[in-house]
Amino acid sequence: MELLIVGTLNGQIGAASKIAIAQGGHVSLADNEDSALEILRSGKSVELVMMDVKLDIYRFIKSLEAERINVLVVACGVANDPSLAVKAIKAGAKEYIPLPPDPELIGAVLAAATRENHALIYGDKKTEAVLKMAKQIAPSEANVLLTGASGTGKEIFSRFIHDNSKRANKKFVAVNCAAIPETLLESELFGYEKGAFTGAVSRRIGKFEEASDGTLLLDEISEMDISIQAKLLRAIQEKEIDRIGGRAPIKVNTRIIATSNRNLDEAVKNGTFRQDLYYRLNVVNINIPSLKDRPDDIIVLAKHFVKKYSELNELPLKVISKAAEDKLMNYLWPGNVRELENTVHRAVLLSTQEEIEADAVILDDADSIINKTDSSTKPAAAVSQGTTLAGMERNLIIDTLKHTMGNRTVAAQILGISIRTLRNKLKQYEAEGFDIASGN
Ligand SMILES: Nc1ncnc2c1ncn2[C@@H]1O[C@H](COP(=O)(O)OP(=O)(O)OP(=O)(O)O)[C@@H](O)[C@H]1O
Ligand SMILES: [Mg+2]
Repeated sequence: MELLIVGTLNGQIGAASKIAIAQGGHVSLADNEDSALEILRSGKSVELVMMDVKLDIYRFIKSLEAERINVLVVACGVANDPSLAVKAIKAGAKEYIPLPPDPELIGAVLAAATRENHALIYGDKKTEAVLKMAKQIAPSEANVLLTGASGTGKEIFSRFIHDNSKRANKKFVAVNCAAIPETLLESELFGYEKGAFTGAVSRRIGKFEEASDGTLLLDEISEMDISIQAKLLRAIQEKEIDRIGGRAPIKVNTRIIATSNRNLDEAVKNGTFRQDLYYRLNVVNINIPSLKDRPDDIIVLAKHFVKKYSELNELPLKVISKAAEDKLMNYLWPGNVRELENTVHRAVLLSTQEEIEADAVILDDADSIINKTDSSTKPAAAVSQGTTLAGMERNLIIDTLKHTMGNRTVAAQILGISIRTLRNKLKQYEAEGFDIASGN
């Protein structure tokens, strides 16, 4: 949980930070509204802002809205001033925390904020069974291996296990083994001492130590190099790690959740994954089925995402038309929940009516459409008879860009294309004389 404290909190910053840190939070500080905004703009992943009531919370929240920064704000002030509390809530603060800070209250606010961000939605019996098993094993200390295809929800399930474990109020630290180059992964995991190599100007604590007493998510563990696997095995077996360049091992008490979308059995057979490590990780195995195998999740999840993205884009809540529902149900979802989420996000932005019409549901993989004769499955945005495919694509891109206020990064995400492709297309449209929303 990343927390940003803004203002002096009536001299209680120290006390509030201590409580938050003890509950597994990371704390940053800002003197005033403007420096808080600067921190948020810098891309720091703050989830909760605790703001002094004496500051201009109203102006701050308006700025967040204008800049489309999604973060929860709670106000903090001296207990005996109800009028300030009311004012803060009216200004858009989610909660009022009286000072001096009370550990239990802050714990409750942190827990609520975390839950809000990682809501796990389901409607299918199969998912319910998986969830039941996850809940059952969560309080044990056993390492867990979560398997499932890409986009099925492995990360969200691993948070669920942490949140339901005895370590819930300690840290949850995630490391993506596939995203970090092999040479950096060791220092990322185990840290180093000052002078361990040229450039090691000060000690760095690795994720293993950071997650001690809490949970370490090793995402995409199948991608971990065999030499690091040996070190990981030692860390799990001996419950101690060596910082690079360190003189003595350091005791850790870290629970591991590992994920893989590849079959680790096979990796063991091929010799790319250590068998002994596999046994250590695979104490509990939870497999998350692909979305096509839990069809009763599809509409429930779609409705959840409609709500999420309507709110995020400040649009009125839309309903999904019957034809659009059919279209969602008649698709195999090769990209699983992530693909469904992107599809619904796009549909929310594209639908021009109060209902999300089938045309706003654009499916990326034609081969995964089950009933191709169904006319409602035509991949079409602002389709009208006589428009060319290129024209439709252009309309879609320009429309999406309008919705994102010209923000190209977001538009590319929604469209599921690279920012480079988007830029090239826009250049082409501009050259052809079309009006493109300007932006970054
Ligand atoms: N049951 C669910 N309820 C709500 N959101 C979900 C659910 N399952 C997945 N999501 C959302 O779908 C997206 C993909 O989920 P997640 O990142 O957990 O998948 P993953 O299996 O880790 O994917 P990958 O293998 O690509 O890393 C996320 O935005 C997540 O919030
Ligand atoms: Mg993942």
